[in-house]
Amino acid sequence: MSLDGRKVLLIVTGGIAAYKSLELVRLLRKSGCGVTAVMTAAAAQFVTPLALQALTENKVYSDLFSLNDESEMGHIQLSRAADLIVVAPATANTLAKMAAGLADDLASTLLLATDKPVLVAPAMNVRMWLHPASVQNMAVLAARGVAVAGPDDGVMACNEFGPGRLAEPAAIFAAIAALLTPQPRPLAGRHVLVTSGPTHEPIDPVRYIANRSSGRQGHAIAAALAALGARVTLVSGPVALPDPAGVQTMHVETAAEMLAACVAALPADVGVFAAAVADWRVDNAGSQKLKKSPGGAPPQLALTQNPDILATIAAAGPQRPRLVVGFAAETHDVRRYAAEKRQRKGCDWIIANDVSPGTGIMGGAENEVLLVSADGIEAWPRLGKDEVARRLAARIATTFTP
Ligand code: CTP
Repeated sequence: MSLDGRKVLLIVTGGIAAYKSLELVRLLRKSGCGVTAVMTAAAAQFVTPLALQALTENKVYSDLFSLNDESEMGHIQLSRAADLIVVAPATANTLAKMAAGLADDLASTLLLATDKPVLVAPAMNVRMWLHPASVQNMAVLAARGVAVAGPDDGVMACNEFGPGRLAEPAAIFAAIAALLTPQPRPLAGRHVLVTSGPTHEPIDPVRYIANRSSGRQGHAIAAALAALGARVTLVSGPVALPDPAGVQTMHVETAAEMLAACVAALPADVGVFAAAVADWRVDNAGSQKLKKSPGGAPPQLALTQNPDILATIAAAGPQRPRLVVGFAAETHDVRRYAAEKRQRKGCDWIIANDVSPGTGIMGGAENEVLLVSADGIEAWPRLGKDEVARRLAARIATTFTP
């Protein structure tokens, strides 16, 4: 992989994994990529500036004030001269500073001043990585479009096991190469509508009917379509996920709100309906909290059917997207129900999966799907939900290439 002529500004922050940044520099230099390194004060406890200087064949920067005093390259210029900024390893502290927008040393000042894409490779103790503060910081950075490589699972320097190990230099290099290589944008100029997550149907002001959908698959599809250049409108039910970067996300609660948001988002070239819409809502939802009386009968909830969003949009006449993709979550007879659903709902493709409790698919990280179309049934292997999303986005793109 040649990255000839490309330039990376590598920020090395303090942590036992900092030594791996030397191998990363070696891989980058071998590919023809220019590297300028910046170290935090803590990083200098783990690797020497001299080692980084020898491998990058460039001056190593670490002190904000000497940078100004020497009237050398200013920090703005330093960050603007690069095609990509890479923070590897990125400590919990550095990630928190990035999320908060702090600028108290050269590394954090560069990260705040840059207008270039940023890739972080986190490395920290598993408890630190799983701490709600770090989880929230990563969500903030992801929503801002910061790319992430790793961390890996494994045994750490502190002898604990879990996620937090710095990704291998080869994997970080691959992520850098992907960001520096112009990606094809076959869906540029297309508008795609995606639904995701569950819906919440109120019983009264404090209770609702819901389902176990996490929204992971729908959100991953929205992100994968945006990565191929599409303008994506994501209509999401209540989920605990950050809005995907580069996607216009509309937040709704109920099926009725989801339908209204979808109709308002038309026209679209493609509709992907991944939401687990509640089939029923409570007809007589209380405007006040339902109270139980001692020995009294439980409330009788009268259910009424929700509008079918997929079927409504698939029958929208001239407003119908050219390609309508539905999902079928089944616990048995998947092929039969999926084929029936495709006909009944008037969609072009059905992505069907078996969501029986034993599969771990509902709410899990993986999915095993069938693509059901007029041409037949295609079985995809069990894949991560991100990979299913990338494949589906790529398949959608092929229908728009002449
Ligand atoms: N769907 C929808 N609106 C609804 C119900 C479902 O848009 N009110 C969409 C889902 O987003 C999915 C597809 O229809 O793309 C199938 O959802 P599923 O829950 O599997 O089907 P149901 O319509 O609920 O059919 P059944 O009860 O027979 O399983």
